[in-house]
Amino acid sequence: MIFTVAIDGPAAAGKGTIGRAVAARFGFRHLDTGLLYRAVGAKGGDPVAAAVGLVPGDLEQDGLRSLAAGQAASKVAVIPEVRAALVAFQRRFARADGGAVLDGRDIGTVICPEAEVKLYVTASAEVRAHRRWLEVGGDQSVVLAEVRERDARDMGRTDAPLRAAADAVVLDTSEMTVEAAVARAIAVVEQAM
Ligand code: C5P
Repeated sequence: MIFTVAIDGPAAAGKGTIGRAVAARFGFRHLDTGLLYRAVGAKGGDPVAAAVGLVPGDLEQDGLRSLAAGQAASKVAVIPEVRAALVAFQRRFARADGGAVLDGRDIGTVICPEAEVKLYVTASAEVRAHRRWLEVGGDQSVVLAEVRERDARDMGRTDAPLRAAADAVVLDTSEMTVEAAVARAIAVVEQAM
């Protein structure tokens, strides 16, 4: 069975948690596509060469979830040649047999416009920064500034900017529990099956 669930949205909106839960519920494979850009940013040197030479093991290194790695990722993610180098892998993952969930910024718009389900998961910048701060600690105002800076870069870039696909179901998790957000996402997938 070929069935793709595309989950897009800004940093720390809950895409990863929802994506993992949906994949587990339906037995689908799951790809956190942010890790690809984080791994490219972490490699240093020429980002295009890093993207072309990326191997699966690169996604498993420590430190990729840090704030600094997120910033580095969003800087290399504006480069069209970097994005182009990562398209084929993501498309294959999305359309291989067995069902797949991909979360990122451009899955429903660029990587897999034919996805059977598109979710746009969002929340206010304050709520997202608070969630991220609970994970990473430090100064809350610095975390909020980081979230806003990354939003601006992801939404403002020319190539594959973050936006909801016209046919995406929008899930604003600002005032939702994790359980409620996951239940809603599962209901949307069930309806499309
Ligand atoms: O989702 P995550 O926070 O791990 O993504 C890190 C950065 O990678 C994002 O801020 C964005 O710039 C970039 N990204 C992207 N397209 C994707 C996934 C992530 O441009 N599909």
